[in-house]
Amino acid sequence: MTLLVGLFDSGLGGLTVLRQVHARHPHTPCLYLGDTARVPYGQRTVQDIRAIAAEVVHWLRLQGVGVLVMACNTSNALALDVAVAEAGVPVLGLIDSVAASLVSERVGVLSTAATAASGAYRRAIHATLPHAQVVEVGCPAFVPLIEAGNLQAAELEQAARQYLAPMLAAAVDTVVLGCSHYPLLRPLLSSLLPPEVQLVDPAEAAVRRLGPLLASLGDAPEIELGDAPILSSLQRTRLCVTGCPDSFSRAASVWLPDCPPVERVDLRLADRAF
Ligand code: DGL
Repeated sequence: MTLLVGLFDSGLGGLTVLRQVHARHPHTPCLYLGDTARVPYGQRTVQDIRAIAAEVVHWLRLQGVGVLVMACNTSNALALDVAVAEAGVPVLGLIDSVAASLVSERVGVLSTAATAASGAYRRAIHATLPHAQVVEVGCPAFVPLIEAGNLQAAELEQAARQYLAPMLAAAVDTVVLGCSHYPLLRPLLSSLLPPEVQLVDPAEAAVRRLGPLLASLGDAPEIELGDAPILSSLQRTRLCVTGCPDSFSRAASVWLPDCPPVERVDLRLADRAF
């Protein structure tokens, strides 16, 4: 049996998570929803973020996903309980996965404003490293610039310098990319940090948990990272958005050359049976 893995994000960012799922599980079909009509999530109220998560996860459930991967840190931080209640299938989180894998006592977390304000990363890290110094910085400028598709924008570097300043001042040795859009900024962020600072993408820890989870549900076994035809396996994916498919394709194809066709969906047409 092969299960359908569902992922969602406000826009492009979750594709960085999808890419990792494909790298380890090239035969696993995925359904990705980018809620581009409502991006960015990170400046929304907690109430909005929770209501949106309920609607999106309900839609994914109706499409028959067998496992849900939270490809959005903001929803993970503020609406994990909503997603678990609505999904009816196992839900894999980014935040608890990465927090459990950290060993550093001086950690910076770059995230959306909503995630930073929630303190979810701090709590998750302190659950395993109670004395760790955690510097959380909300980065409201990043997502709109990334969604616009210009990863070379001068404003990105300007904003990155500002957001990294408190982390440099605290001499962190690990920076968590606590928004799924931010792995796209890895080259820029690395260039602004001392070489010994490690950048951590939470998707890596979460996707390491996916194999055992799929196996426990009776799915096909995981294959070795590195052997997977990453781009061609994307063709197995159904990519859906709530906004304009063409602008999503254009922005995604800047860094995802094999981007499959993108479909527009209307979540409100989903039959709310409960
Ligand atoms: N990529 C999402 C996250 O991981 C949401 C970004 C946003 O829409 O503000 O937090």
